[in-house]
Amino acid sequence: MSNLVTVTNLSTHYPLGQRFFGEAPVLKAVDQVSLDIPKGSFVGLVGESGSGKTTLGRAILRAAPISSGTVRYNDGEVDYDVGALDKAQLKDYRTRAQLIFQDPYAALSPRMTVRDIIAEPLEVMKLTKSREETDERVREIAAKCRLNLEHLRRFPHAFSGGQRQRISIARALVTGPKFVVADEAVAALDVSIQADILNLLKSLQNELDLTFLFISHDLSVVAHVCDHVAVMYHGVIMEQNETRALFANPQHAYTRSLLSAIPSLDPDDRHRAVVYDPTA
Ligand SMILES: Nc1ncnc2c1ncn2[C@@H]1O[C@H](COP(=O)(O)OP(=O)(O)O)[C@@H](O)[C@H]1O
Ligand SMILES: [Mg+2]
Repeated sequence: MSNLVTVTNLSTHYPLGQRFFGEAPVLKAVDQVSLDIPKGSFVGLVGESGSGKTTLGRAILRAAPISSGTVRYNDGEVDYDVGALDKAQLKDYRTRAQLIFQDPYAALSPRMTVRDIIAEPLEVMKLTKSREETDERVREIAAKCRLNLEHLRRFPHAFSGGQRQRISIARALVTGPKFVVADEAVAALDVSIQADILNLLKSLQNELDLTFLFISHDLSVVAHVCDHVAVMYHGVIMEQNETRALFANPQHAYTRSLLSAIPSLDPDDRHRAVVYDPTA
């Protein structure tokens, strides 16, 4: 299977404080990462808080800086070196590659109707020619995200966390992307609602032919929905594999410590914290 996204030796380094002598100190949020995202796949990116998952996801979307290395995006229609896009290409890339955020409360403006929230990317990028066309696109994607069309006139505060996350998903998908980074997209939701949203993402993947990078600190969620998994630790991808193979035969001690903390996989270790000893 060909890759939709191919990340090669990607680094995002942030400056740390003042330079006095020699090299300026940097924080290596992402360090020399390579990652394949096959077309049509649902790739999980796991790792503890601060391991660089969000930075990597955003760098792929050109929403965090690329210090070195390359991101290639090839959907058959366009073949982009994401770090080297010109203005017109970047605009086009933003329609093809989108982000779903974690927090459905923070992400939605309380002063806009649901219709306007979902329509905004179309209007900002001037992708539709008339209000009718915009409304048509909004209704279409809202229905696909199982939103009640009656609710388009309401404001987001009227909705539960799960409904709000559907609104966020509709907004992310309204431009017709092929690639979606979902960054902790279910982390803020109750467990019962998480399953609804995960099922929605999986059915949208089929229906709309999407490829996902699914970022989560929760390996049990990733095990459930992802066909490939990459494990990140301190800015580095420790290993990546098909989910089944990774779980059956983890190559790295850090992956084993993550796996051992999943209650359903190892009931005896239910209360054990994830502790990774790099010397082990
Ligand atoms: N804009 C930024 N400037 C400086 N440091 C940042 C910035 N964004 C993230 N970092 C740092 O990069 C590291 C990785 O963060 P992040 O990508 O958010 O990790 P994760 O999503 O896995 O929790 C953290 O140490 C974080 O503090
Ligand atoms: Mg994060």
